[in-house]
Formats: sequence, C-alpha cells, structure tokens
Amino acid sequence: MTGRLLIKKVFETEPVGQTVTVKGWIRSIRNSKKFSFMVLNDGSYQDSLQIVIDADLENYEEVASLLTGSSVSVTGKVVESGGKGQSVEMQAESIHIYGKTDESYPLQKKGSSLEFLREKAHLRARTNLFGAVFRIRHELAQATHKFFSDRGFYYLNSPIITAVDGEGAGEMFKVTTLDLENLPKDDKGNVDYSKDYFGKDVSLCVTGQLEGECHALGLGSVYTFGPTFRSENSNTKRHLSEFWMIEPEVAFADLDEVADLAADYIKFLVAWALEKCEKELNFIWGIPFSDVDKSHRSVLENVRDSEFLKITYTEAVEILSKTNVKFEYPTEWGKELQTEHEKYLTEEHFKKPVIVTDYPADCKAFYMKQNEDGKTVRAMDVLVPGIGEIIGGSQREEDLDKLIKKMDEDGMEKEGYWWYLELRKFGTAPHSGFGLGFERAIMYITGMPNIRDVIAFPRTPKSCDF
Ligand code: 4AD
Ligand code: MG
Repeated sequence: MTGRLLIKKVFETEPVGQTVTVKGWIRSIRNSKKFSFMVLNDGSYQDSLQIVIDADLENYEEVASLLTGSSVSVTGKVVESGGKGQSVEMQAESIHIYGKTDESYPLQKKGSSLEFLREKAHLRARTNLFGAVFRIRHELAQATHKFFSDRGFYYLNSPIITAVDGEGAGEMFKVTTLDLENLPKDDKGNVDYSKDYFGKDVSLCVTGQLEGECHALGLGSVYTFGPTFRSENSNTKRHLSEFWMIEPEVAFADLDEVADLAADYIKFLVAWALEKCEKELNFIWGIPFSDVDKSHRSVLENVRDSEFLKITYTEAVEILSKTNVKFEYPTEWGKELQTEHEKYLTEEHFKKPVIVTDYPADCKAFYMKQNEDGKTVRAMDVLVPGIGEIIGGSQREEDLDKLIKKMDEDGMEKEGYWWYLELRKFGTAPHSGFGLGFERAIMYITGMPNIRDVIAFPRTPKSCDF
C-alpha cells in the first residue's frame, strides 16, 4: 500500500494518472447498480474528494452499505473530474474500512442548526462548517506568532494559576484542593488558606498582563497567547468563561504606539485570513446563519487597506448624545460604554473599526496610566462592527506612588502585588500593551454569530461538557 496523501495535497498537486491512498470520513455515499459515488473528507481541505467505486471492487457490497460518517482508506487512481467545480476525482482500486457508523450518527443531515452541532461538539469537527472554522482559527494563531515574532517580540508563557487578580474585578475561579465539605477555619472563622495546596488563596488567571509587564521590562517586547478565565456571569454571544487572549506588552512605548500596533495586528490577521483561507471564508459566508455574506470580503479588504480611526471617550460620548437613536442605557460622561453604544459607533456612525482612548478612570482597571486631568486614564478599546470591543489596552502607570494611591482608593489588598509594585521601584519605565480576544477576532473575520462556535469546546455559565 502506498503512503497516505492528504486530500489537500491531491487538489494542490493534481497527480492525474497516479495511484494514491487517501484516508478520511465519508460525507455521503450514493449507490447505483453499477457503481457507487463516495464523497470523502479528511479535514485537511474545504473540498471533499469524489470517489467513483465500480461494482467489481472486491468488497463492493460492504462498501456500498457504508453510511455517512464511516472512516475508510481508499487507494485509487487520480483522474480528471467530469463534474463541475472539481478538478480531479478518484477511481477506487481498493477500500479498507476502519470504522462503520449506524443510523444514530448525529451528522446525517445537511443544515443542522449551530445549537444542535454545539451539543455534538465531539463530532462537529467533521462538518464542512467547523472544519472551516478551525482551519481559520489555526491560521490566525500562526499569523499571530508570525506578526509578533517578526517584530522582535518574545513569546511569554505566563502562568495560569495566580495569587493576584490582574484586573482587580473579582471575576476569578478559585483553585483549591481543600475539602469543600469540611473547610479549615482560622480563629476569625474565615477559611484558612494556609492549609491549602499553595498555602494561600489562588485562582485561574484573568490576564497574563502583569507577568507580561515584568518580562517587557527586561526583554523589551513580549506577547502572551494563552487561555484566560473569567467567572463573569455573562451569557451573551460574545462572552466565554474560558477564552484565549493575546497580550503584547512593550517597554518604552506610549499608548499611541500600541494603538498603532493594535491596528497593524488586526490588519495583518485580516490580510492573512483573506490570503490563506479563501475557501473556508467563502464557505462560511455562503451559509444562511452566518452574520455576513460574501460582501464581507470587501469590508475586510477595506479594513486591511485603510487607517484606523482614533477618537477619545469624550468625543464618543458627544457623538452618542447627539444621535436620535434611543439606547437602553443613556449615555453619560463617566459611564462605561455599553455594547449598544459600541455597536452604534462602529456600525452606524463610522461603519468601520474605531479606537476609543482616554476613558474615565472609574470605568477602568487600577494599573492604567493616569492623565493630567485627574479624571481619565490612557486606556484604549478597539471596537469593530458586529462585535463591539475586540481589544482592550492601556499605557501602564509607571509611577509607584500614583499606583499605590489608586490601589488604595480601589480598596485593593496590595500584599500579593509586591512584585508588581517593585517593577515601579527598580528601573521603572513607560510601557504599554493590550489584549486581543482571540475568539472575538475570529468572529469578526468569519462573521460566525456566536462565540461558542469559534472555540473547540466552549465553557460558559452552567455549561462545561466535553
Ligand atoms: O479588556 P480586557 O478585560 O483587558 C485585559 O484583560 C487587559 N489585561 C489586556 C491588556 O491590556 N493586556 O480584555 C481584553 C479582550 C477584550 O477586548 C475582549 O476581546 C476579550 O479580551 N475578552 C473576552 N473574550 C471572550 N469572553 C470574555 N468573557 C472576554 N472578556 C474579555
Ligand atoms: Mg475591556
């Protein structure tokens, strides 16, 4: 038997006249008296390979009885295709059956709903749609490493278990080996974490930023790309309890520099997807439940080719208070922008991505650099149509006294942050960074309407299967 050839390679190299072996899962099989027609996909390519099986094949009867979802190895001759849309097909010479299915195989019908497929997340990688989504996700991850590495950033694997709340928002999942039925208590009646595995109260990270800052102030420019956990009770199409974030951090950079970096990074991702994932994107843009259609290509081309707009929070609030649109939450200077406001700005007003800077200090995390006005901080959010916030970032407060004052005002327990504060004590320097929500970027580029469908096994409130 010849070695296995990926179906992607069959289409790319079109080895007409050669006998090769492909292995995959049957997408469909149609039988007639004289031959069968099998459509095979191995996950390597958007298109499936069509295979013609003559009735004189040794195990023809068994092959003809196979159902959608069965796994096979097919050795056969590659021939030019008579059918339209396909350059080549295969004439089977021998077929080995690895695994059969039965009528209960859930992916029988075309056009199953996204909700249904989500319940079958262990099998959905075998659909054309999720094959496309996860190949795109892979490409965008590769693009991320390429983008940052080419610009001299070092990849930092920041820890997942942490003793500090990096956002100060209290949305953390605890990590413990204590017996929850029988918790050790101290004399005040509080849980005695000194008896816990790490001897203290620890959680899953909500960000890798604080450790990113440590390494940026040594290596210069770093980026993290890892899982991030938030116990916020947001059951929306844009929130996950476990998501992936890319967090670059740059020493000696101010907010404007990382805002430009953010725009370049998004453009790079868009350009990469357009170039490498044409078939996948066209497939997604052609299905009825996608949020976008094929015109999304020109939208993305425009993002790739044009400057990002920059406005301040104060300007954004002015725009919002001048419109006649009725919002559920009225806009008022000092309040965090709601999704409806973000969507209005990008979808209705500017009709493209926009970077909003200099938010009120009270809306944002403790570590952001305080502006001279005493009211705002050097923060930015990058907003895009269809999603709203895709990136959050800031220049960091590098002044030790100001940072301590802010943490005290916020009522934070400073003890665990001693090392973070020492960055400001020893050789402090201006530095800035941001975090891009990887799944939100995938949603934006693909137009997939629900964040649960761009991550392999979504975790959301009350849902943690697989
Ligand atoms: O705005 P956030 O909370 O910023 C930070 O975590 C900073 N430490 C980043 C930094 O400056 N290094 O989150 C950044 C991005 C958001 O813009 C959003 O795209 C994504 O992370 N995000 C989520 N994505 C999915 N589900 C959630 N629950 C998310 N929360 C934030
Ligand atoms: Mg944010």
